[in-house]
Formats: sequence, structure tokens, C-alpha cells
Amino acid sequence: MIFSQLKNLGVLGINNRVGRYILRHNARSSYPLVDNKVYTAQRAKAWGIAMPENYLIIENYGSLKHFETKIVNYDSFVIKPANGSQGNGIIVIKEVIREEKDGRIRLSFRRSNDKIMELDELKHHISGILSGLYSLAGQSDTAIIQQKIDKHPIFDKYSYGGIPDIRVIVFMGYPVMSMVRLPTKSSDGRANLHQGAIGAGLNLSNGHTNNAVIRNQVVDFHPDTNHTLSDLQMPFWREILELAARCYDMVGLGYLGADIVLTPDQGPILLELNARPGLGIQIANLAGLVPRLEKIRLEGESNLLARQRVEYSMKNF
Ligand SMILES: Nc1ncnc2c1ncn2[C@@H]1O[C@H](COP(=O)(O)OP(=O)(O)O)[C@@H](O)[C@H]1O
Ligand SMILES: [Mg+2]
Repeated sequence: MIFSQLKNLGVLGINNRVGRYILRHNARSSYPLVDNKVYTAQRAKAWGIAMPENYLIIENYGSLKHFETKIVNYDSFVIKPANGSQGNGIIVIKEVIREEKDGRIRLSFRRSNDKIMELDELKHHISGILSGLYSLAGQSDTAIIQQKIDKHPIFDKYSYGGIPDIRVIVFMGYPVMSMVRLPTKSSDGRANLHQGAIGAGLNLSNGHTNNAVIRNQVVDFHPDTNHTLSDLQMPFWREILELAARCYDMVGLGYLGADIVLTPDQGPILLELNARPGLGIQIANLAGLVPRLEKIRLEGESNLLARQRVEYSMKNF
């Protein structure tokens, strides 16, 4: 699809987005709350919004010293930078391997892509996170060791390696566009478009896929599982949208991207929030954000509950 066609669809250009919507609707003071995943988790807890459990928060090199005595307690986990984005710096460990040697336990770690990491490599990676290698502005950072969420069986044929996530763009508390992102071999357990995951647009009215892309190229089948992408129906659809809409009440950002994951037993939970969500979601849906944002600007009401706003969005988009 050529650029002029996308523009005619109302696809938001980068300057438009930053100038008109993000800057106007997002208070700077709220950014740290979503940019830092530790803060988001604290706020979500106070709001009764479920997120994966944070097992360990590593703030300095000193706490890495006795790392093995703590990590030995977990069977699987995810390492992520508190201030990261686009999947950078995230490692999914699906198995902790414990071997006894000379009366001591030796640890190694199986990644989502089956590569084995030794303890030293893992600590080296965490050091990199602390030094700010993956943080949004290059400042020193905190590493989070987080509970690994397992894949919901509905995604077995649609996802390779890791778990998919459902991105919902929420404007003034109203869901306006959504996609499910499906990990591929190349995205190594992460559902980020920049890592090579599939982005499949979802109809807001019913949670059914409409179109799918990898790196802006339309695809019909998952490249690793060969399964068609056109018949995926999101379970818990209304709950997913309500969870996203409630995140607006929680952090007060007018323009927000909520990343939601489906757990096998707990239903949808929040994974993280984004104050500057990417524009790829429009390509995934072959639809532009501008007309929807304008509609909410004209018709949106500020005194409705999340449930009522979702009702509106499901009817109108
Ligand atoms: N706790 C987790 N369990 C399983 N997979 C995860 C977990 N956290 C992140 N991932 C994978 O990594 C991707 C990116 O994680 P996310 O927290 O959204 O960070 P980022 O800000 O880099 O996008 C997710 O979409 C998911 O596929
Ligand atoms: Mg994300």
C-alpha cells in the first residue's frame, strides 16, 4: 500500500500524532508512571488491576552479588528493563536447569528460543540493563525479574515461542483501535512488531482478526506454524477492552497504548502501558486512527464508566 492511500484512510502521521494528540492529551507528569514498569505495577496493585508478579527488582550491581541464591527459587521467569520498550532487553527464560556438581548446585537457563544461557551471561545481561543499555533515554535503569505468563491454548496455532499480547489504543478512555501481536521465530518470545512479530488487526466490535502484517507486509499465514491468521477470535473480548479502558482512569493519559495478555487461568491481565504507542497498528488494521480520534473528540463524554465507554467503542468502531 502506498503512502498516499494510507493518508486518505486517515492514517496518523508521526507529526500529527505527537503534536495533536500525544502532547495535547498526555500530561508530562504522568509519563514516569507508564514509562517505568515498576511504578505501573505499584499503581495497578492499588487499583486492583492484575499484572504478572514481579519476583525481584534489581536496582544496583550490589544486588547481583547473591543473585543465584534468589533466582534458584523460580522455575521460569522473564527479565526486562523497567524503562524499556519495543521488546528491547527482554529475555524469556522458560526453564531453570539445576545440576548438582561436587555438592553444589549449578544453574543454567533455557530461553524461549531453546538457547542455553549460563549464569554469568544472565548476570552480564542484567548489568547491561542497569547501565541503561535498553532504557528509553539511556539513563541508568532497574531490572525486573518477572513471573513468566504461559500461553493461552487458543494461541497454540497462532504463536511461535512466546505469548501474544493484545495492544489497545485508548483515547480519552475510549478504546479506538486494537491488534493482537503474535510472536514468530525471529521475535524470540516477544510480541513486539519491531522484533518481527505479526500484527493482526482486531475488529473492535467483536475481537475477530481482520488483516495481518509482518514488518508492514501483509501476511495470510503464520510463517512458523503455517496456520491461517484470518480465523482468530479473541476470547474475553469485552473484558479485554474494559481492562484497557480502566487504565485511562488509572493513569489519566488521554492517549494510551495498553498491552494485555491472556493467562490460561486468570483471563486477561495488564502487561504494560505505553505513553507513545507506535503507529504500526494502523497498518495492521488497514485503517487510520484520525477519524476515530476526531469522533471521540466530538462525541466523547468524560463522566462515563469504562464499561459504558467500551459499549460505545464496540458499537462505533
Ligand atoms: N511476564 C511475561 N511473560 C511472558 N512473556 C512476556 C512477559 N513479559 C513480556 N513478555 C513478552 O515480551 C513482550 C514485550 O513485553 P513488554 O512488557 O510489553 O515490554 P516492552 O515495553 O518492551 O514492549 C510481550 O509482548 C511478551 O510477548
Ligand atoms: Mg509492550
